Amino acid sequence: MTDNSIISPDHRIRVHDRTFRPYIHRDEIQDMVRDIAKRINHDFSGQEVTALVILKGAMVFASDLIRMLSMPVIVEFARASSYGNSMTSSGTTAIEGLLADVTDRNVIIIEDIVDTGTTIHELIKHLGGLQPKSITIAALLSKPAVHNETLTIDYVGREIAPDFVVGYGMDYAGHGRQLDAIWVVTEEPLA
Ligand code: IMP
Ligand code: MG
Repeated sequence: MTDNSIISPDHRIRVHDRTFRPYIHRDEIQDMVRDIAKRINHDFSGQEVTALVILKGAMVFASDLIRMLSMPVIVEFARASSYGNSMTSSGTTAIEGLLADVTDRNVIIIEDIVDTGTTIHELIKHLGGLQPKSITIAALLSKPAVHNETLTIDYVGREIAPDFVVGYGMDYAGHGRQLDAIWVVTEEPLA
């Protein structure tokens, strides 16, 4: 792994077997997270919320987001996997580890990125049966051009083109989660 931070727009890094270029600077990510937190603080002021963090990708976003929330917060985790080692969603999602007690709670699903929407769709279907008080979705990124499902994402950091990104928790074949910025795949060979 080369340097962890974006140095210039023509900076390139290699993650696993592909080349990535700078996409969203860490300062801009922090602004996006702050904006989402502000809206959640406004909408759920005086209420307790359950942050349901979707592993593994959303862990970094969630850890920044929950520290900006001003109401009582309970943190729970579920694991959803749809990508495996490729850059395209498999279209099927396995949800594991959803043992949290969500009945009567304001559940906020914390997701890194919504692509086809299958993961969110499956989660909502599953959670709906557990009678939460409310279900809302906070996603750092969304690719509306490739959504298969009709989705309302309550809090979105930014809508992006359907290109593959890594960093800030998001991986390519298990790599790149620790990058503090978001990088997008390029076709260029690594110099
Ligand atoms: P969906 O079920 O197709 O919406 O896929 C959502 C999941 O796929 C997210 O939780 C991510 O883990 C992963 N994902 C989608 N797009 C990307 C990407 O560009 N980079 C890394 N992971 C992604
Ligand atoms: Mg994910």
